[in-house]
Amino acid sequence: MSTDTKNRETFAGCAKTPKWRTDFPIEWEGDHYVSRREMVKFLTLGSLLLAGANWFTAFASGMLRRGSNAQRYIGSAAKLDAAGYILFRYPTDRDPCIAVRSADGTLHAYSQVCTHLSCAVVFNGQANTLDCPCHNGVFSVQEGRPIAGPPLRPLPRVRLQQRGDQLFATALEV
Ligand code: FES
Repeated sequence: MSTDTKNRETFAGCAKTPKWRTDFPIEWEGDHYVSRREMVKFLTLGSLLLAGANWFTAFASGMLRRGSNAQRYIGSAAKLDAAGYILFRYPTDRDPCIAVRSADGTLHAYSQVCTHLSCAVVFNGQANTLDCPCHNGVFSVQEGRPIAGPPLRPLPRVRLQQRGDQLFATALEV
């Protein structure tokens, strides 16, 4: 029995074997290489999957941030006036913030996380600034913008609302 006949019998027994394979039962090493078309298809599908995952992550984090911007009681105005500042957490329990009353009597609140390398800023009542002890960064209390040291970005501002003696954080402006 010739090799050709043997191959024909082998392929004829398999129901999924395409007709061309039966007609031309020649195999060579190149059959196992991935073609350019298959590679492009794989890369396109992979890119689409990654884009979809990125979009979903952005959407989910936006929803979480929006949801966490609920009002939160942060303390009493009397306590703030007595100490010059109060510390609180907003929008989540992992986000330290500071509220201060500036020299002109207005209330301001910011994230307490320095925009340089994330040390906690502290209120300097004499200079009316928020100071970062790690690398001597200084932020203005009025706007939260950096005025000295290595930080380049302003502190995220927390919007406050006062109702009687109670202070509420209402939104984080990033
Ligand atoms: S971490 Fe605040 S100045 Fe460097």
